[in-house]
Amino acid sequence: MKRVSLTRYLVEQQREHGHIPPQLRLLIEVVARACKHIAISVNKGALGELLGTAHTENVQGEVQKKLDVISNEVLIEANEWGGHLAAMASEEMDSIHVVPNRYPQGEYLLLFDPLDGSSNIDVNVSIGTIFSVLRKVGHARGVSEEDFLQPGKQQAAAGYCVYGPQTTLVLTLGDGVALFTLDRETGSWVLTEDQMRIPEDTKEFAINMSNARHWAEPVTRYIAECTAGKEGPRGKDFNMRWVGSMVADVHRILARGGVFLYPWDRRDPDKPGKLRLMYEANPMAFIVEQAGGMATDGRQRIMDIVPTKLHERVAVVLGSRNEVQRATEYHAG
Ligand code: AHG
Ligand code: MN
Ligand code: MN
Repeated sequence: MKRVSLTRYLVEQQREHGHIPPQLRLLIEVVARACKHIAISVNKGALGELLGTAHTENVQGEVQKKLDVISNEVLIEANEWGGHLAAMASEEMDSIHVVPNRYPQGEYLLLFDPLDGSSNIDVNVSIGTIFSVLRKVGHARGVSEEDFLQPGKQQAAAGYCVYGPQTTLVLTLGDGVALFTLDRETGSWVLTEDQMRIPEDTKEFAINMSNARHWAEPVTRYIAECTAGKEGPRGKDFNMRWVGSMVADVHRILARGGVFLYPWDRRDPDKPGKLRLMYEANPMAFIVEQAGGMATDGRQRIMDIVPTKLHERVAVVLGSRNEVQRATEYHAG
């Protein structure tokens, strides 16, 4: 088997399609290297005294785990000095982190969820890192939070890393989706699948069923029809999978199809949903669409939403095209 490293993949993409500017290439390599570093910490677990809480809260009022904080620091430090970024934003930081002026300012903006699936850290279940890349538009000097408030369709790249039985990196630069697996002996990311496709149909859904009593009618109807199985209106049996780490649930869907829902619910009616638009929903929507799937908030395409704030939340329905279409139509009805 010809082994294609991430570096070679990026160089060849650049040569063949010419759509990866050098700063973007550096950015991807730096993020991928930071993810290796995070993977090492995740793997150490109790041996590195890395489990458990950091006894602090993030801007969204969630208690931070030690690994949330460490992963955030790793990504910041790795990305500060390269000259490829103007600023970064993260689930774990209240406001944006501008590249210090001792370093050159680049043209990109990076957003990340440093560790997705925090509640699974201590129980040794797959977790991950999600990232989204935007261009800084306009030529104004300096950078502000407003520069980040671009719809997801303007992403230059997006990806995620899963720290599971294997450590894998999924990447899109807007020309399909590629999967890399970390070779622990050589420390390199090896291309293990290119042009991934999500099947249009599926018999698998992913939703936190414990919230069922709070759902809106279209979600209740959609899931009830799935669980009614062969005897119901869908005429087929569905299976349910819910890891509780969005990265792992989305990765399963990318690998074999499925539909993932994190809908609005009545618990907190003013919140559109639980997941964050800019560093969870947008990058996943970009990847899913690039693999032939679909991603909506139940009404509109996620990547069309113009954010009004950095930590904005959104309802999410994504995955196999025909199922997302159906669930979205139920909302319109
Ligand atoms: P994070 O760990 O980054 O805060 O994200 C957790 C998210 C997501 O990964 C998952 O799909 C969802 O929260 C699960 O939440 P509930 O267990 O509250 O349903
Ligand atoms: Mn998350
Ligand atoms: Mn997180």
